[in-house]
Amino acid sequence: MLLSPLAERNWEDLCLVLEEVLEHQFHKQLFALELGSGTGQHVIRFAQKMPFVTWQPSDIKEESRDSIKEYIAATHAKNVLQPVHLDASEPWEKWAGLSRNSCDVIIAINLLQYSSFQTAQGVFTGAGQTLRQNGLLITYAVYAINGTITPSCNEQLDAELRRLNPEWGLPDIDVLRQLAYGNGMRMERMIEMEEYYKCLIFRKL
Ligand SMILES: *[C@@H]1O[C@H](CO)[C@@H](O)[C@H](O)[C@H]1NC(C)=O
Repeated sequence: MLLSPLAERNWEDLCLVLEEVLEHQFHKQLFALELGSGTGQHVIRFAQKMPFVTWQPSDIKEESRDSIKEYIAATHAKNVLQPVHLDASEPWEKWAGLSRNSCDVIIAINLLQYSSFQTAQGVFTGAGQTLRQNGLLITYAVYAINGTITPSCNEQLDAELRRLNPEWGLPDIDVLRQLAYGNGMRMERMIEMEEYYKCLIFRKL
């Protein structure tokens, strides 16, 4: 099992956001897709805290999918499906056999910073197709705002990401808002989290 120290620090805050957002919106068993599940620490915690949601983890990396499988086995989680390979930059028809309007929630934690613009487009195009009406896309990241990055620690973070891969970097909230708009969603809320992170909540119209 892989262990991310960051995921250990932020899962509780993320749970609180999800519980608040989901419990007030829906009154039935929900289906949630996680993009870029990574180690699997988040999805397991979410599943334990929110048994009214069936969680579908996904990751592009086999190593991550193996880790998620180990977490599922170790925790006997009943409401987490086996992880699937999903490359968000690919057309939604290739999103692990998901059908149109099948997801209540899509969540992407620390994915967009490590993504090219093409992948960000893929996330929003795919979410626009696979979310059902009133479904939610929730992204957690550190963002640029209208082309500006503040404070300097976030500028450093952005520079570090770009050194690792010139296509990566802090996603711009206003660019995402436009991507959402172009795919039948609108940005509904921006929730401030610790260490300059934010949750953005987009709703499919
Ligand atoms: C970006 O600028 C526009 C136009 O001034 C404004 O409406 C929007 O709220 C700004 N974005 C953020 C995230 O503050």
